[in-house]
Amino acid sequence: MKVIICKDKKEVAKEAYKVVRDRVMNQGAKVLGLPTGTTPEGLYAEMVKGCKKGEIDFSDVHTFNLDEYIGLPVEHPQSYRNFMNTRLFDHINIKASNIDFLDGLTDDIDRECARYEAHMEELGGIKLQIVGIGRDGHIGFNEPGTSLSSRTHMITLAQSTITDNANLFFDGDESQVPRWALSMGVGTVLDAKEVLMIAFGKNKADAIQGMLEGPITYMNTSSALQLHPDVTVVIDEAAASKLKYRDYYKRIAPGNEEAMLKFLAAARKKAGRK
Ligand code: GLP
Repeated sequence: MKVIICKDKKEVAKEAYKVVRDRVMNQGAKVLGLPTGTTPEGLYAEMVKGCKKGEIDFSDVHTFNLDEYIGLPVEHPQSYRNFMNTRLFDHINIKASNIDFLDGLTDDIDRECARYEAHMEELGGIKLQIVGIGRDGHIGFNEPGTSLSSRTHMITLAQSTITDNANLFFDGDESQVPRWALSMGVGTVLDAKEVLMIAFGKNKADAIQGMLEGPITYMNTSSALQLHPDVTVVIDEAAASKLKYRDYYKRIAPGNEEAMLKFLAAARKKAGRK
């Protein structure tokens, strides 16, 4: 995994935006997977700004979101769909028909999950999947104990997730947080061509340490990303604070390959190689 350690959350948003812009504008990533939560808010603000400046164009981009609460209508202020509308979709030039979202009010959960997977496949799969991480290491809503080959499914939320989401989005009122959600599975996330993980803050440090340096285990579903060939992790110093190989990740950060090529060219010259 490529690990980019930034000073703070503002820098995380800017670095992540650079990746998104490059993939959408230069590498043909026209099918995106998107997360909700407080973590991507800065990135979405950058995407909105970039779109307004004409740096990034969403007119032919399709999106799938990672998850949605069961039981919340779209217009509910805390539904993930509403979150995405207000933070991103309402402010960029994406076509409404190109936005797919899990329906938290479906009357047939299995059919809805299968429909979502089939639509992704029909569009050739997700090219860039952006994910945040929960305190317990979950990606999407894939709580500890979720199969690492799971597909889009219904999940029962862990207590730590209910508490965190109550504090962040429900004025601390846990009774308002739905206990269930629909979520892409870990296997669905692993099928994306590329994954971009973003995180900041010291309450994510254990989860990030487990993801990058722990064993692959369904007790921290983000650790499955160790099996993916193309993952970029953009985190701040606080989220990186428990990493054993922190200094090494800094050494292999962007610019490293250029430095290596310069070194190699100088060594070849010294050795008289053409
Ligand atoms: C929720 C979402 C996840 C998100 C996590 C962390 O559980 N389902 O996709 O990564 O919260 O949220 P935050 O970014 O607010 O810390």
